[in-house]
Amino acid sequence: MEEGVRRWVVDISKWDPQPYEFSFALSLLPSQEHSSVTRYYTFYSLNLVIQINGFLTFTFARFFKMEDRKRALISRMLQYALLYDLVKINKPFFSQHNFIIQRTSQAKPFLDLLDYDKLGLTFPNFNFNVSHHGDYVAIASEPLCLVGIDIVSFDMPQGETVAEFIQFFSSYFSTLEWENIVNAGTSNDVLIQFYRYWSLKEAYVKAMGSGLIEGLNKVEFSHTNWTNISATMDGKVMALWRFWLIELGERHCAAIARGPPTSADISYKSTLKKVDFTEDEYNIGLHLPNVDFVEQSVEQLVLILQKAFDSEPRG
Ligand SMILES: *[C@@H]1O[C@H](CO)[C@@H](O)[C@H](O)[C@H]1NC(C)=O
Ligand SMILES: *[C@@H]1O[C@H](CO)[C@@H](O)[C@H](O)[C@H]1NC(C)=O
Ligand SMILES: *[C@@H]1O[C@H](CO)[C@@H](O)[C@H](O)[C@H]1NC(C)=O
Repeated sequence: MEEGVRRWVVDISKWDPQPYEFSFALSLLPSQEHSSVTRYYTFYSLNLVIQINGFLTFTFARFFKMEDRKRALISRMLQYALLYDLVKINKPFFSQHNFIIQRTSQAKPFLDLLDYDKLGLTFPNFNFNVSHHGDYVAIASEPLCLVGIDIVSFDMPQGETVAEFIQFFSSYFSTLEWENIVNAGTSNDVLIQFYRYWSLKEAYVKAMGSGLIEGLNKVEFSHTNWTNISATMDGKVMALWRFWLIELGERHCAAIARGPPTSADISYKSTLKKVDFTEDEYNIGLHLPNVDFVEQSVEQLVLILQKAFDSEPRG
């Protein structure tokens, strides 16, 4: 079962593809995924045309287009490559026609139950989540528990002070968390403290598949130097959950939440392989060791996808 616990991360600032390299990487994904990667151009140029005119519009649109396309592409490459790497069964099995990652009405990707069986996954409830921010795109998977991941780049707020910026979010934190944040030290320390708590809360919400962040102030995180993280809800220990915070590079962190499938949001729950486990079964999944992030380059992902698709007809 440990095999199902995966954490992969790509530093996208290291990949500056030529248009043909981008197209080639995209061609390794099922054609049904292509428009979700290439759509970013229209989306952003439309937005910006309304706000600005002339030359600026064009440069902004191009800038956003490339960065967002890169993230969208790598997010999908990570999902497919992780699955291929996990199942490692006979090549000819794979074709873009018999295996596509589906999305819920909330656009959360999941593995269709038919594909789950076709791929021969033996995990009781395999699921995954992807996050991207700043320089990183990362995926986390779990074989039984729900998983949520959230990456945060410690960006300095623009046009306002750190205190003004974080004040806007104060209602999402418990009194104790808020004290820890505002008393962290310099404004940079305060900002980083804020982002760490925030990413944990986001990972928790993302594991459940809901976008709901109301009531997050009732979930209080405690930690020893950001290890040994635990949480309480309304003062009660959340014993069915586990949380980790991992520093990435200079100014990013990733939070990971592992929790019970019964907590999944309705639309996500209906996509899960198995929701109800006995306490003993659940504890096996809950206590699996967490693993370190494996840094993947885009070139490595390309290799994995190529291997899976080799000798497969595409089009
Ligand atoms: C990650 O989880 C969130 C919340 O459940 C969901 O909205 C998002 O689509 C997921 N993304 C991926 C790529 O798994
Ligand atoms: C906390 O982490 C910092 C940086 O890794 C280390 O220098 C410090 O000794 C740690 N403190 C405790 C109480 O573990
Ligand atoms: C970890 O946290 C728990 C709950 O807050 C605490 O009881 C335990 O002593 C901590 N362990 C370490 C090694 O800090």
